[in-house]
Amino acid sequence: MHSTMSDNTAPGYYSRHIFFCLNERPNGEDCCHLHGAKEGFDHCKRAVKDAGLAGKGQVRVNKAGCLDRCAAGPVAVVYPEGTWYTFVDTADIDEIVESHLKHGQVVERLLVPPELGR
Ligand code: FES
Repeated sequence: MHSTMSDNTAPGYYSRHIFFCLNERPNGEDCCHLHGAKEGFDHCKRAVKDAGLAGKGQVRVNKAGCLDRCAAGPVAVVYPEGTWYTFVDTADIDEIVESHLKHGQVVERLLVPPELGR
């Protein structure tokens, strides 16, 4: 029997997914790329792997284009919770990995304010 779109009880291939905006705009226009997005992404990939969290049933770290919340950049979003983070350095990424990706605990101090969009 095939599952349907409304069948959301099956476990996902990954338990959590984190997407980093790596958007780079031409002509030096402001974008996450100018605020350390790539460094954050690379560090997160490594940290997730080093923590033994990478792979099926666990955590996947992915690149994304503009997530349309540029004013808070650099940004990353964690699913299934839909938690939006901003970060300034690799210590922030370590905290997101250890607290949220490993233990499911949101890092309140790094949350993107709800009103910040593009
Ligand atoms: S450039 Fe990163 S959210 Fe738009």
